[in-house]
Amino acid sequence: MKKTAAFPLALMAALGAVSGAFAAGDPAKGEQAFTLCGTCHTGQAGAIAPDLHGVIGRKAGSQPDFQLYTQALKSADVVWTEETLSEFLKMPGAMIPGTTMAIPVPDETQRGDLIAYLKTLDE
Ligand code: HEC
Repeated sequence: MKKTAAFPLALMAALGAVSGAFAAGDPAKGEQAFTLCGTCHTGQAGAIAPDLHGVIGRKAGSQPDFQLYTQALKSADVVWTEETLSEFLKMPGAMIPGTTMAIPVPDETQRGDLIAYLKTLDE
């Protein structure tokens, strides 16, 4: 995200509240909220959605076992960080038009919790 790199202060000002939510993100609440996600993101081979273990730090659309990525997600020039995940989850199709990931999480605090939970999957 070029904007992120070029204007960190502006971004921090704009997303100040979101950053706060990250800091306070509660992985236990995130795990509960993940019931919204786990029917598709089961983490099993053959699931209809990619395994999210290790998603933070990974390029979008690059989970090696998942064959059903859209071209839109595969060709998106995005690496998953707390910031990009939050933007994506807020309204996936707005960030990456054409993605079949269609579950928006409008609540900022809930996004922070979910991301805190996803981070625990990286360990
Ligand atoms: C109805 C099924 C479904 C549900 C429910 C769902 N997803 Fe997804 N998700 C998908 C699919 C399908 C993709 C792949 C989209 C594509 O290729 O465009 C995806 C992609 C993603 C990605 C990108 C992964 C990557 O490897 O680049 C993330 C992150 C993600 N979902 C998070 C979530 C979270 C968090 C939730 C719960 C709030 C959720 N998803 C709920 C189907 C779902």
